[in-house]
Amino acid sequence: MSSRLPGFYRLAPAERRRRLAEAAGIPTDQLAAFDPGALSIEAADAMIENVVGTFSLPFAIAVNFVLDSRDVLVPMAIEEPSVVAAASNAARMARPAGFTSELGPPIMIGQIQVLDVLDVDAGVAAVRAAERDLLGEARRLVPRLTERGGGPRAVTARVLARPPGPDGGVVVVHVEVDCRDAMGANLINTLCEALAERIAALVGGRAGLRILSNLSDRRTVTVRCAIADHELGGADVRRAVAAASRFAELDPYRAATHNKGIMNGVDAVLVATGQDWRAVEAGAHAYAARTGQYRPLAVWRDDGHVLHGELVMPLAVGTVGGALHGNPSARLALELADVDHADRLAAVAGAAGLATNLAALRALATEGIQRGHMALHARSIARAVGATGDQVERVAAELSASGDVKPDRAREVLARLLHLSRSQP
Ligand code: MEV
Repeated sequence: MSSRLPGFYRLAPAERRRRLAEAAGIPTDQLAAFDPGALSIEAADAMIENVVGTFSLPFAIAVNFVLDSRDVLVPMAIEEPSVVAAASNAARMARPAGFTSELGPPIMIGQIQVLDVLDVDAGVAAVRAAERDLLGEARRLVPRLTERGGGPRAVTARVLARPPGPDGGVVVVHVEVDCRDAMGANLINTLCEALAERIAALVGGRAGLRILSNLSDRRTVTVRCAIADHELGGADVRRAVAAASRFAELDPYRAATHNKGIMNGVDAVLVATGQDWRAVEAGAHAYAARTGQYRPLAVWRDDGHVLHGELVMPLAVGTVGGALHGNPSARLALELADVDHADRLAAVAGAAGLATNLAALRALATEGIQRGHMALHARSIARAVGATGDQVERVAAELSASGDVKPDRAREVLARLLHLSRSQP
């Protein structure tokens, strides 16, 4: 299977579907899972409360991606123009060497807050001494996960506050669990609730909150790529992208926007594949601020010849459990991306994030982002006034060149083209 689908963006949606089905080796009618209404109201009603309908977003495929030596079709659901084109363009630049990924262990952290602890140091020591027993009990609570090779790995405790204070002495106990292919939120919350009373008694206080932490800083993905000058547009662009990276490294105001450009790619994949993207967002930003200064999740380095990009961020996703199974489009998205386990999905989302970051920095460091936006906007206006096939590009090119990207102008241009083609034999 090749993710290189030249001209994919120029096709009409029905033709694109045929091309996609062919590339993915699935029957075209299976793509009906992306039709409006594919998530039935009954299924939606079983997912959340007070349902009155379902909500649609554009669903697209970013092309050209090679990740860990395998081509991958990257599913993206997003309302923002340019993101899918940006991801596909950057993936084409990275294609010769491809993206590579490294994954941390799929360990999620559950937190048990213990309040009104008289002797917090003794409480922490008690948890340390009982860790083996606590792990044994935790394992008994999740037998199926343990059979699948996952399960509780560590129980640790830290002092958060010493008495006196509004909560007395406060100790937090972390239960670290290898969740394998599950995102793990339900699993961790169940475990924390089941262990809380025993742990509070051991620490010598009262159990408070028992909940997963979204700062899953063990479950990280690292994605790298290297871009040659001829792909990027020259040595000046290489230097300018590295300078843009340093700007984000020095300044949290810029780092926030830099990371937004990364999350454009990451979130689009997460939404398309039915993941809890809010959990990933929360973890990403907490991780970005972990040194006390908010920093970029991806950095770019110029070694004098090649541009090297590296993204590191927590990315807790699941391919089993969760809301995924109620949603036919999310299941098909995973199938198209050929994702069979959570690590691969995290790597695909990370690669999409590094790609959208590269495309944004390259555009910002050269012509700015408005020109590209305008070109895409011109195409969608051309389609909206009725241009089809070749006419779309021709109308869009004329609109962009004139700088007047408006429907009235598009109608005029299209009418002229139609008149010309009728008057020519
Ligand atoms: C817009 O959605 C994202 C950018 O602002 C990202 C960036 O500035 O790096 C273009």
